[in-house]
Amino acid sequence: MSENKIIDESKQGEALLIEKPILPNGKKLFLESYGCAMNFSDSEIVASILHDQGFTTTKDFTEADVIFVNTCAIREGAEQRVRKRLTDFKKVKKTNPDLIIGVLGCMAERLKSKFLEEEKLVDIVVGPDAYRSLPELIEIAETGQKAVNVLLSKEETYADIAPVRLDSNGVTAFISITRGCDNMCAFCVVPFTRGRERSRDPETIVKEAQDLFNEGYREVTLLGQNVDSYLWSGGGLKKENITAEELQNATTFAQLMEKVAMIDPDLRVRFSTSHPKDMNDDVLHVVNKYENICNYIHLPVQSGNSRILEMMNRGYTREWYMERINAIRRIIPDCAISTDSITGFCTETEEEHKDTLSLMEWVKYDFAYMFSYSERPKTLAERKYKDDVPDDVKKRRLQEIVDMQQKHSGERTKSGVGKIHRVLAEKISKKSPNELSGRNSQNTTVVFPKENFKPGDYVNVLATDCTSATLIGVVVK
Ligand code: SAH
Ligand code: SF4
Ligand code: F3S
Repeated sequence: MSENKIIDESKQGEALLIEKPILPNGKKLFLESYGCAMNFSDSEIVASILHDQGFTTTKDFTEADVIFVNTCAIREGAEQRVRKRLTDFKKVKKTNPDLIIGVLGCMAERLKSKFLEEEKLVDIVVGPDAYRSLPELIEIAETGQKAVNVLLSKEETYADIAPVRLDSNGVTAFISITRGCDNMCAFCVVPFTRGRERSRDPETIVKEAQDLFNEGYREVTLLGQNVDSYLWSGGGLKKENITAEELQNATTFAQLMEKVAMIDPDLRVRFSTSHPKDMNDDVLHVVNKYENICNYIHLPVQSGNSRILEMMNRGYTREWYMERINAIRRIIPDCAISTDSITGFCTETEEEHKDTLSLMEWVKYDFAYMFSYSERPKTLAERKYKDDVPDDVKKRRLQEIVDMQQKHSGERTKSGVGKIHRVLAEKISKKSPNELSGRNSQNTTVVFPKENFKPGDYVNVLATDCTSATLIGVVVK
């Protein structure tokens, strides 16, 4: 999952609020998240743990007793953003020495106790698998000591913790189905910050989705770094340790998604991220079979050149990827497809960059999240290859793919005009209180007159106009 995908960019670094405090302990928490949907989902676990401790939340960090920032380490820029934000918090700490500042998430895991040496005013450093220990860590910090827990786990899935939905629209929610990643893509820090991949008990996933539906939610997004490798056979064993018989009885991602889709036809199901090397036709057939599983697949390619893909350790070639795109087009009519791409990975030549452009031209993605390569400590690429594409070349190549994508996204949006879309209304539109905004199955935002509709309703909208990324329409009965 990309840093800014699914998560509206405006939510990055925004205070997240617990809506219903119970038995307040008199202490106020300020919680802010960066990074991918997985991190935002983790913040809901953190909120649940602290909610049980009686914390209330605040949007104003100057009045907080505890400030937690859930961080991202995916690119250098993501870390710089957090460090800059920490300077704001440290100012408050100078006037209020009792304030506790905690750094959570991927950057905490990457830097471990080194963080405390670099940032003297930080009190707590806690990695993504250690949130259950937050109450003890806060207690330690309250005595004036520093508290660190960055242990990664092979089992932790927080399956029994009911997340507290933060700043929710009451309609859409994330459900984590796997944690960690075993893939070791050469550029990627995630395996180091989130540890080994493990799948969560499907019964707890289905229950969470059912509970959300009962509370009025109408869309769940199943989250994992590689959802296609989801596999549950009792103890969440890895494929390589499973006997043939256990595999027979195991739950695959396709089967899990089917279970969630069967909860109710009015519960929409989305999922992210699909991995080109693991996404099989079974998954595509399930998407096609259920009307309520959205026709949208995020299938990050990273590069359109097979030599670069090999160096990236992605486990597929350009041809394999193209075959997977053909399979989507064959099995799911009218499926939107998006990607992540990196420009200027180690040794990438101009010709190889052009292969990314030609692949994008061939697929014509509906959406894309594009980055220039940022070397990350400890990764395979950092240890084995030279980061030898000059910055200005990386940036220029990035601009070229961004320009191409803008054209494709615009064309895709335009092609929706004149058609009727089934839209799940999510919220009052930012531009007008008389309009609702939601998304169609293909994940395009659609804005329409509110009339008597409310968030959570399904509405048929005839698109009559569009901007570059949004359809504008009228309600049809
Ligand atoms: N699990 C997802 C990706 C998670 S990270 C997957 O396999 O596709 C989100 C995106 O950030 C990646 O897809 C990649 O495009 C980008 N990214 C990751 N590491 C990067 C790096 N070192 N430099 C630039 N972009 C990076
Ligand atoms: Fe990173 Fe690759 Fe895992 Fe995605 S699949 S999180 S890019 S290592
Ligand atoms: Fe997500 Fe950033 Fe961690 S993208 S997994 S929060 S490094």
